Amino acid sequence: MFHQKYQSYLDLIEDCLIHLPFTDNLICQSMNYSLVGGGKRVRPVLALACVEIVGERPENFVREAAALELIHTYSLIHDDLPAMDNDDFRRGKPSNHKAFGEAAAILAGDALLTFAFEMLSQSLEIGPEKQLRVIRETAQASGWQGMVGGQVLDTVGNGQKSGLKEIESIHRMKTGALLTASARLGAILGGGTEEEIQCLSKYASYLGLAFQIKDDILDIVGESQILGKPARSDEKLQKPTYPAILGLQGADDCLKRTIASAKDAIGYFGFKAEFLSELADYVGKRDH
Ligand code: IPE
Ligand code: IPE
Ligand code: MG
Ligand code: MG
Ligand code: MG
Repeated sequence: MFHQKYQSYLDLIEDCLIHLPFTDNLICQSMNYSLVGGGKRVRPVLALACVEIVGERPENFVREAAALELIHTYSLIHDDLPAMDNDDFRRGKPSNHKAFGEAAAILAGDALLTFAFEMLSQSLEIGPEKQLRVIRETAQASGWQGMVGGQVLDTVGNGQKSGLKEIESIHRMKTGALLTASARLGAILGGGTEEEIQCLSKYASYLGLAFQIKDDILDIVGESQILGKPARSDEKLQKPTYPAILGLQGADDCLKRTIASAKDAIGYFGFKAEFLSELADYVGKRDH
């Protein structure tokens, strides 16, 4: 049931992504290379599930959900650059800068980010207030107060010397912020009440933290072939990770507690929360 539902959201998102109005010039080729044909699409799936849980049709907000995947893909292209994590593989193929060169990779990231906001600002029939709120919140979650801020601490900050509290904060920013924004985007566009938005937000912030703890664990125990990106990259760069501080077992215990908290947070929705509850389990069990 979970996989069928996930696939139904995925079909909507993939269809939107392959029909984006890109041309055949170099920058569009570079953008498309990273965007299409890979990735779990967790952020747009989460957004569409939140549209549905508050009572709207997911089909009505596919473009907005897909915009989140453009922001995420930009963050991955830049994350892999030599100046950042210097990783040569992503989503099962050479990283963007390996295929197109660093300049094109930087620019493809820039263009994906800006195009995402163009997509979010296209006409919708929900009234300008809700739409502006989504645009503002998505911008905040993506920039210096959110994802970019987390990447700064992870990359050029003093991440290595961090304790658990600091690492939690890095993870909440670099990964949790965009996942939280994804849930909020769905809940707001879908016309959820403030209570519903708050509840989904809390769920997603635990989900986002769990997502990055699992990413840290997979970096150690996963295989590059299955991950689609180089394993054991964090150790090489002495990244601030949960296993580095707590050991693998400690990180796994923390992951389990965080997933339990995510599931608790959506108790409010009762049986309607089944998919999101299973999504939290999936985040803990995933192998890539
Ligand atoms: C990887 O994200 C980077 C993190 C924020 C942990 P995903 O694990 O969602 O990567 P894709 O989109 O499936 O490739
Ligand atoms: C990246 O975290 C988070 C982003 C915002 C892109 P990681 O550097 O651990 O992600 P991977 O492991 O390269 O996918
Ligand atoms: Mg990184
Ligand atoms: Mg990385
Ligand atoms: Mg990682």
